[in-house]
Amino acid sequence: MAEKWTPDGWRTKPIRQQPDYPDPSALAAAERRLKRLPPLVFAGEARSLKAALARVAEGNAFLLQAGDCAEAFSNLTANTIRDSFRVILQMAAVLTFGAASPVVKVGRLAGQYAKPRSAPTETVDGVTLPSYRGDSVNAIEFTPEARAADPRRLIEAYHSSAATLNLLRAFAQGGYADLHQVHRWNLGFVADSPQGHRYQDLADRLTEALDFMAACGITSETTPQIRETDLYTSHEALLLTYEQALTRVDSTSGDWYDCSAHLLWIGDRTRQADGAHVEFLRGVANPLGIKAGPGSDADEFLRILELLNPKNQAGRVTVIQRMGVKKIGHLLPPLIRAAKRAGATVLWCCDPMHGNTIKSSTGFKTRSFDDILGEVQAFFDICEAEGVYPGGVHVELTGEDVTECTGGAQAITEARLGDRYDTYCDPRLNAQQALELAFLLAEILKRRRHRDPARLAAVAS
Ligand code: PEP
Ligand code: CO
Repeated sequence: MAEKWTPDGWRTKPIRQQPDYPDPSALAAAERRLKRLPPLVFAGEARSLKAALARVAEGNAFLLQAGDCAEAFSNLTANTIRDSFRVILQMAAVLTFGAASPVVKVGRLAGQYAKPRSAPTETVDGVTLPSYRGDSVNAIEFTPEARAADPRRLIEAYHSSAATLNLLRAFAQGGYADLHQVHRWNLGFVADSPQGHRYQDLADRLTEALDFMAACGITSETTPQIRETDLYTSHEALLLTYEQALTRVDSTSGDWYDCSAHLLWIGDRTRQADGAHVEFLRGVANPLGIKAGPGSDADEFLRILELLNPKNQAGRVTVIQRMGVKKIGHLLPPLIRAAKRAGATVLWCCDPMHGNTIKSSTGFKTRSFDDILGEVQAFFDICEAEGVYPGGVHVELTGEDVTECTGGAQAITEARLGDRYDTYCDPRLNAQQALELAFLLAEILKRRRHRDPARLAAVAS
């Protein structure tokens, strides 16, 4: 029987990856301020996402979770938000139209400001300073002032999340996401590429289908699903002081919800069954993600699932595996088998980014597009062999024309990584690479559907 949960119960548990705040009274002041600020999302929205994820877990939709590795305050502009949203819309259009699968869209956006780090400090030219832990903790510049943890940044993270969310809601509901705009989602630098042409072709066919539907009386005016979309938000629930301060009781259900985002996930470095992060998240009713990296042990994994989802509800837990292309083949099947043996309802999702990070010969942290595609393909094959539904992907991307991951149709080489390497943390797919991945996913999903016509009937109903 699990112990009674309270929003601050995590404070008595071992905790990892938290900043050292030099001034505890400034932290307490920031917490007091956050507790009074309005929620960023509503409990009802988190419940809708959980219901949508339950449909994914049952095999009737696909999850696309995508966005920045680390959002940055200095990057908070209308264009950056619009471009990330566009890529996600494009990918979703390819998956929905290309594979006839409903897509649940979840952004790593509007709150992804805190980063776990493999080392607490960084040394450059003999100088050692605290590592950069995301804009909600400290600044990326390599000076003692910038790297000191400053709790006022928690308030800035809140306001930046609110501003991002505000624009995302406007884009999602205010006409930009209308399927009639499908051609406009092709970013300038993508339009003239092979992927861009392929997308153009799909957009032409989609527009024809919309014209046909309009002739039958189904238009944006009659059918809200054509003119608007749902984009949910998510981030890693790393800084528990911040997450606790935004956790509120929902007046409708009486349950606690972490109102900083719709979905919160636990990172691979903080998923200890006896640790503070699992303790905190088990008590909030939001849908949750849990990253599963190569260190995942099947017994502990089951304990975590039991703690986070004691009622075994579909849509509550998404397991985001990130084993890496070389290890997925022997590390993922034992987890799937353990969950199946325990009868645990899990949405299986593939993060093909974090297990494939390498250091390039030119010194940049990078990922090869082939490894990313390779892990996605292996994930589908393994799920099929183990008899579970491959429910989604989790990717780091940007709408900007960056050169951070090698390969893809642009054939970005290690030598070219420095051209436009802008990330604050991990290397992201650029919009062309993201689109290429979406086409590959659509093909895999389409093949799967043709092998399993019952699935098509279920999706259509
Ligand atoms: C991330 O998603 O950016 C991350 C740090 O992932 P993981 O916890 O899987 O390493
Ligand atoms: Co990352």
